[in-house]
Amino acid sequence: MTDVTVSLDPSARIGAVPRRLFGGFVEHLGRHVYDGIHEPSHPSADEDGFRRDVIELVRELGVSTIRYPGGNFVSGYRWEDGVGPQEERPTRLDLAWHSIETNEVGLHEFSGWLDKVGSDLMLAVNLGTRGIEEAVDLLEYANVPGGTAMSELRRDNGRDEPFAIDMWCLGNEMDGPWQLGHLDADSYGRLASRTAHAMKLMDPSIRTVACGSSSWDMDTFGAWERTVLGHAYDNVDYISCHAYYEERDGDRAAFLASGEHMARFIQEVVIAADHVKALKRSDKTIDISFDEWNVWYMNRPAPGSFDGKAVDEFEFAPRLLEDRYTVLDAVVFGSLLITLLRHCDRVTSASLAQLVNVIAPIMTEPGGPAWRQTTFFPFALTSRLATGQALRVPVTSGTFATSRLGEVADVDAVATWDEEAGTAAVFVVNRALDGSRTVRVDVSALGSTSIAEAHLIADDDLDAANTLEDPERVAPVDLEGAVIEEGVLTLTLPAVSWAAVSLQVG
Ligand code: AHR
Repeated sequence: MTDVTVSLDPSARIGAVPRRLFGGFVEHLGRHVYDGIHEPSHPSADEDGFRRDVIELVRELGVSTIRYPGGNFVSGYRWEDGVGPQEERPTRLDLAWHSIETNEVGLHEFSGWLDKVGSDLMLAVNLGTRGIEEAVDLLEYANVPGGTAMSELRRDNGRDEPFAIDMWCLGNEMDGPWQLGHLDADSYGRLASRTAHAMKLMDPSIRTVACGSSSWDMDTFGAWERTVLGHAYDNVDYISCHAYYEERDGDRAAFLASGEHMARFIQEVVIAADHVKALKRSDKTIDISFDEWNVWYMNRPAPGSFDGKAVDEFEFAPRLLEDRYTVLDAVVFGSLLITLLRHCDRVTSASLAQLVNVIAPIMTEPGGPAWRQTTFFPFALTSRLATGQALRVPVTSGTFATSRLGEVADVDAVATWDEEAGTAAVFVVNRALDGSRTVRVDVSALGSTSIAEAHLIADDDLDAANTLEDPERVAPVDLEGAVIEEGVLTLTLPAVSWAAVSLQVG
């Protein structure tokens, strides 16, 4: 079937699009913080050593809340190392990424950078090598106005007003054997519950995120969520999901179906969380914080390795996880955004992992330029255009066969409708490898509409990418031929492409 019909009905509401769905993630990893966002010797560096060119790109990307400082890094991190006079901060070994951490950037500096990029902070506490006391100390430091040891220390360190951080991650990927101090589900569930309980005794306004599974493929998936929430349900507000996708063994169909994989993962976490809700006869619903998602070529040999290094080989800001993204990756990435939007009634927070240099939409060279990877574009477009209510748009399309998920629809779509602004937007992916699809979207229920913008990500060369040598090789183009006639928006999407169309309503 090459013709695809979609109907857009303003009453088919999924929920309000949460701004937090367009979050990011900055970890002390490789050249992310040092030589990425912070490079005092760079010609564009500001008075605080942050690259202005990167700040501009992060603003353009449209990132709402940024998770910090890890990731695996946080499970060995002592937050106190990163506050106080910079010249007195200790240099440590980061055991997660086999790197040197100078602590030049810590909570104060990062929060200052967030003000420049216009994003909020989502902070993770270390539950790998540390515990309740350090977590409540950090909360006291960050959120208590003054008059106590930690809050006065913050003021002595130059920050009078509290940081007022409202979202807190209770450790990171504690189910993973690779994690420093990783725990079984019972031990982690108890620790997460007690930590969140103590933190909320200090500041009841905060929201806490318990670690869910590091991926849908973990052997402990499902049982982990049930057990952790069994202990922590009353003290936490979110359970996390993490998922990374890549093309394996040349199986493009499976890779193109990643959005479907993500959808099933979300649905099963919702079932696990609601199962515990029923057991507890609770009135409270636990939402998902999809706080790590992206394309990541984890199984492909990448330049730079962190594993198996002798301690005298640990480096400062090594090149790690510097994946180069192609057009194919951008299309899959766009489809993941469609899945997140379609589940935004329960996925009310998400963080693209990560932001600069490390599996990132933005790349930099030390002393050199900064540029947009292919994945930059679907994120920036969706973050800008998806406002108001997310709408379920039933799609009737052909399917393709996948090795793991069976038949998957060629075309997937979601829409948003912003009644107040008088706008709507449709996000569509054509995952078919065998050719274009003409998509007819019935928009008549919106009343009179016209096309405001129509963008397409596609290329004859699916492996095309933006690089230091050719930083503008790939960019969205105008979706030619998009038209509205008699209440039907018609779009033709080439094989393996992603489109975003915004509409003026009324
Ligand atoms: O994003 C890179 C790493 O992936 C994070 O540090 C970790 O949480 C996950 O395994």
